[in-house]
Amino acid sequence: MLDLETVDHTRWLSQVDSDLSVVLVDHAHCEKKAASTAMSLLFAYIEQPEVVRAMRDIVEEELGHLLLVMNQLEKRGIPFRKLSPASYASRLAEIVRSGEPDRAVDRLLIGGLIEARSCERFTLLAERVQDRELSALYADLVASESRHHAAYFRLAKLYAPPDVVSRRAKELAVFEAGVLSASSDPPRMHS
Ligand SMILES: [Fe+2]
Ligand SMILES: [Fe+2]
Repeated sequence: MLDLETVDHTRWLSQVDSDLSVVLVDHAHCEKKAASTAMSLLFAYIEQPEVVRAMRDIVEEELGHLLLVMNQLEKRGIPFRKLSPASYASRLAEIVRSGEPDRAVDRLLIGGLIEARSCERFTLLAERVQDRELSALYADLVASESRHHAAYFRLAKLYAPPDVVSRRAKELAVFEAGVLSASSDPPRMHS
């Protein structure tokens, strides 16, 4: 699904069952980080109007998602606290090539893969979570993160020919699935 390699979610689903509130807090942090990543891409590729417009939209939407998740935390009396992040995003950052335009291709594709994986996990949460309001929120967020995935993958093609982007997307997808499968992190959105 969504240019992702398959991973086994068994361990993660048991973490969700045992500590949903921590996953929710981490989710709020992920939305904040998604806004920040999009802002940093806007700054890095300011000379490319298509990137600027798309990142502006994504920053706004991710900040909107942050508030939606914060509202759910407040309703449930879960304090929004600092949390050590999963190793997922920093492991993915290690594989970004230096030197343009390779760096742009990798940053955009990795952004797209993270959106895709979030989309997949939101789908799983929508099915798993008993709480109807929370389940509905996750079902709603799927459409938006899926659109973000498509935007990132489309923008990567501004920096390399489509066949080169496709090959690199496949390599990165294999790496991403390996990182997630090897995770020994405590409960997080991408543990
Ligand atoms: Fe989001
Ligand atoms: Fe997103």
